[in-house]
Amino acid sequence: MKSKIIVLAFVIASLSCYLVSCTQEPTLTGSPVSTTLNLPATSYTYNSPTGQSDDVVSLGRVLFYDTHLSANNSISCGSCHKQSLAFSDNTPVSKGFQGVMGTRNTPPIQDIGTMNTFSPPSLFWDGRQKFLINMVLKPIANHVEMGMSDPNALVSNVQAMPYYSALFTKAYGSSTIDVNGIARAISAFAGSIMSTNTKFDQVSCGQGTFTALEAQGRDLFFNKFNCNGCHQTQTVVGGYQQGGGSVTDPGFINIGLDLNYTDNGRALITGNSDDNGKFKIPNLRNVTLTAPYMHDGRFATLDAVLEHYSHGIANHPNLDSRLKGTNGLAVQMNISDQEKTAIIAFLGTLTDNTVVTDPKFSNPFITQQ
Ligand code: HEC
Ligand code: HEC
Repeated sequence: MKSKIIVLAFVIASLSCYLVSCTQEPTLTGSPVSTTLNLPATSYTYNSPTGQSDDVVSLGRVLFYDTHLSANNSISCGSCHKQSLAFSDNTPVSKGFQGVMGTRNTPPIQDIGTMNTFSPPSLFWDGRQKFLINMVLKPIANHVEMGMSDPNALVSNVQAMPYYSALFTKAYGSSTIDVNGIARAISAFAGSIMSTNTKFDQVSCGQGTFTALEAQGRDLFFNKFNCNGCHQTQTVVGGYQQGGGSVTDPGFINIGLDLNYTDNGRALITGNSDDNGKFKIPNLRNVTLTAPYMHDGRFATLDAVLEHYSHGIANHPNLDSRLKGTNGLAVQMNISDQEKTAIIAFLGTLTDNTVVTDPKFSNPFITQQ
């Protein structure tokens, strides 16, 4: 099994070398864990918003997948944010470093670099962070997620791994390892993951056509049910900000999942009960890969999500007006089975296989994890 992985990694490495005609990085080995990194020089064509060099992004890729950033060396960012799932997770909530479950569904990481400077802040389901560079250290310090609350311990762990000295030198021209260098690199890597290569984008640019079912689904999504009024699929961030909500705090919406939310989302940040049950409008790019759905992962399938909009919307006092009928009560969209199939086919055109298969976003550790 191990030899197969190494062979596969070699094929990928040589293929990308062939494509970008570059030189293979030296293999980095060392103790305490014997580690081989598959890091062919690669070009991050989607430049990260902070404009970091490829070497900074590559360093970020290693840190993203390195379990030495967690308190008991058991978990990395990539343990919850899985590439094959558009950097989301396939459980309602994810397990942290001591096997303790979190409380929220792991969102995909894609196009978040473009949200970096939005105001109000837009990172996390409740928008509690504004800058990606500050945000990426939070899961490391979080007592459920990675448990490394002491930044000095984090720096020591990274310093202890023999491969980082060369990687920091390449990235920053100095082998000094500090928290800022770590944060800058991880945020550059996370920010470089863009999903713009979808069938939806291609058709929008006049390349290719939708099937009849996809075209019907698009029409239902944009017109009959006005899903696009919130989930603006034509933008890479997928609706945050343009989605409406209140004037001063757009993009956070109550969709009537419950009459009483156990997690009040945005209100936990603003302290305002008018924000109870409001969560960030999720980006629907790659949505067919990111089940289960909603901030708490309550729906296992897209069918179940559509059933919510169809018959399940609760009359929460903060329910968004677009989900109310003329009588002021929760609307029942009554989406037929055939319409559900069409909408799901349309949502499938939002999948970007580059994000899920590109080796430059993959786990570079060959013998570890
Ligand atoms: C134990 C699982 C777990 C680990 C490990 C983890 N995350 Fe997350 N991540 C989550 C969950 C759950 C959320 C949503 C939390 C919330 O909104 O309150 C999240 C949210 C995010 C977001 C915000 C996405 C958005 O759309 O707003 C980013 C970016 C992110 N994580 C990056 C990282 C990075 C970088 C690391 C490693 C340093 C990491 N995560 C480690 C589970 C995890
Ligand atoms: C008024 C704004 C609004 C409208 C209209 C709307 N949505 Fe949503 N949608 C949201 C918000 C906000 C969430 C996240 C809610 C939460 O987790 O509490 C969401 C969640 C989702 C999710 C889950 C995504 C994930 O990653 O978990 C899907 C799929 C979805 N909506 C599809 C649709 C479809 C299809 C329609 C039209 C039938 C629609 N939405 C209409 C705001 C809206």
